[in-house]
Amino acid sequence: MRHTKQTDLPMNKNILIIPGDGIGQEVTKWGTAILEKIAELHGHNFVFDEAIMGHTAIEATGNPLPDETLEKAKTSDAILFGAIGHAKYDNDPSAKVRPEQGLLKIRKELGLYANLRPILLFDELLDASSLKPEVLRGTDILFFRELTGDVYFGEKNRSADGNFASDLMNYNRFEVERIAVKAFEAARTRRGKLCSVDKANVLETSRLWRETVQEIAKKYPDVETEHMFIDNAAMQLVKNPRKFDVVLTANLFGDILTDEASQIAGSMGMLASASVGDGTGFYEPIHGSAHDIAGQNKANPLASILSAALMLDIGFGLKEEAGLVTNAVAETLKAGFRTMDIADTSTAKENILGTNEMGIKVLETVTEFVNQ
Ligand code: IPM
Ligand code: MG
Repeated sequence: MRHTKQTDLPMNKNILIIPGDGIGQEVTKWGTAILEKIAELHGHNFVFDEAIMGHTAIEATGNPLPDETLEKAKTSDAILFGAIGHAKYDNDPSAKVRPEQGLLKIRKELGLYANLRPILLFDELLDASSLKPEVLRGTDILFFRELTGDVYFGEKNRSADGNFASDLMNYNRFEVERIAVKAFEAARTRRGKLCSVDKANVLETSRLWRETVQEIAKKYPDVETEHMFIDNAAMQLVKNPRKFDVVLTANLFGDILTDEASQIAGSMGMLASASVGDGTGFYEPIHGSAHDIAGQNKANPLASILSAALMLDIGFGLKEEAGLVTNAVAETLKAGFRTMDIADTSTAKENILGTNEMGIKVLETVTEFVNQ
């Protein structure tokens, strides 16, 4: 008889899967499989639906975020997303309809103003990073990237002759306040440190940002607050990543800093993220669609699997189940298995797995843990 663990009350959840573009399709399959496995092992009832977005949706409907997808998104309990983008648009700046518009619109429509990006460092991957293991060891950072404001959503202009362009960078005080509160609350449950990153020596939006964070900080005297300029933060992050606990920053700065920070975790293929705010939470790897390796069973499914873990944890409050998934990933890495992107010279050839084989390993490990 299968061992069914029911430490939490059984949950009924509607989960929307949006695989998106490129490797999003193949990695999301494994994020979904892990959720199915957890439901089976822990007696939850997860019902899955699927929808299209990005280049895939443009091809099918002409719209990167079809109304049907948005409707399904709004009525689901959580969304697991894959990746977005296509090289075709990257090399065609004149394209008016772009895959990324779908992602930005769904973030805005769902009010997903806080993007949490944990830099989870598995000891086994210390050598996969281009940075020195002694610099990385012990790093544990949680980024709070603001996600529905900034230059991403400001007015865009292009002059009639095409020779002038502008993107308006703007923030409202309340937009800074609400994400700052979330970040301070998180800092309290961690090591009690918060670093707010801005460019207040140059930008007015950053001066509003800093002023607001300073105000909120007064309510959290137990949290050690620091303010850092983005250029310095980019440098400190690779010089001494251990000094950071919670990092709070704006949309554009957060986009850039978290790609940089992914190198601390060894690969972009390892980092998961959770976007939360007013409604349905959205869980996604931070990596892109990587069309160069799409459809070849080469992509790393671990970021999607870890995104599923974040859904269980942050979305559904299923801490035990989330821990199980994260531990299964750690165990799989400990056993020596790697995808191409996280393999190094010491990895035995037969331990370098494809997307599907890695997904199966993690599923098997989760099952073993529960049946132990
Ligand atoms: C990310 C991505 C997106 C962003 C792109 C695909 C629009 O880079 O989620 O970090 O810039 O926010
Ligand atoms: Mg990015």
